[in-house]
Amino acid sequence: MRVLAVGVATLDIINIVATYPREDDELRASAQRTGRGGNAANTLVVLSRLGHDCSWAGMLADDPASHQVLQDLHEHQVDTRWVCVYPGGVTPTSCILSSQATGSRTIVHYRDLPEYEAADFEAVDLAAFDWLHFEGRNVPSCEAMLKRVRQAPRPPAISLEIEKPREGIERLLSFADVALLSRAYAIARGCADAEQLFKQVRPLAGSAVLFAAWGEAGGWLQAADGVNHHQPAFRPPVVVDTLGAGDVFNAGVIHGLLEGGTPVEALATAVRLAGEKCGRQGLY
Ligand code: FRU
Repeated sequence: MRVLAVGVATLDIINIVATYPREDDELRASAQRTGRGGNAANTLVVLSRLGHDCSWAGMLADDPASHQVLQDLHEHQVDTRWVCVYPGGVTPTSCILSSQATGSRTIVHYRDLPEYEAADFEAVDLAAFDWLHFEGRNVPSCEAMLKRVRQAPRPPAISLEIEKPREGIERLLSFADVALLSRAYAIARGCADAEQLFKQVRPLAGSAVLFAAWGEAGGWLQAADGVNHHQPAFRPPVVVDTLGAGDVFNAGVIHGLLEGGTPVEALATAVRLAGEKCGRQGLY
């Protein structure tokens, strides 16, 4: 199936450390890798590996790091024809510590690049896609893009990721068929669990199917009937790297639904793929 994701690609510089350091420590990494990151880009790479035709729409710089990101996307057969290049810009970069002791990932992100705007999205041929996935950021622009999709003669299915609280982001929810909510977002809203989160979000989300990834507790979903479903986590023998597990979960939901599965089946697929990912370095 044909999937377009609108969001971010980054350069990730990942240092693998035995344990997470204390402040002002100096320590050696046991390994280092650099490569493409960013939620939308990661989700697309996984979807591409699962057999979908994937395109990315987002903003890139024209520095050497952006060439590395583009090359990686092309190696994963992700089409970049809708990408906008900002001349003289700087590729968003994440310095990441991946702790072998716990599998935790600590991300320091630097961004100094304009956002991809609704005007850039005007050029995208919506009829070419079965599914559109949006990273919920840059709310006014994202809202304009979502409105455009909803007004299309035969709008593709829309998923919306809400990973972080942002001013007014809830108003994007009513445009989505599927909302992918993070635990960090739930915590920022003062919710102790997914059930509380769904209770808060449901009145804003129309009939969207709500999904929430909950790390070692697995994942939850609530369809428009208001019934909650829980899928316990898939636990790998050893948790070695959780970087991008949420992006893999999102890919799993989209894949499961595109394959014609029910939301409950898609949740099971997403939880399994995200759990398997935590058992190895890298996304797949
Ligand atoms: C993981 C990730 C990283 C990126 C960071 C910020 O979910 O996408 O690859 O550096 O989050 O987008």
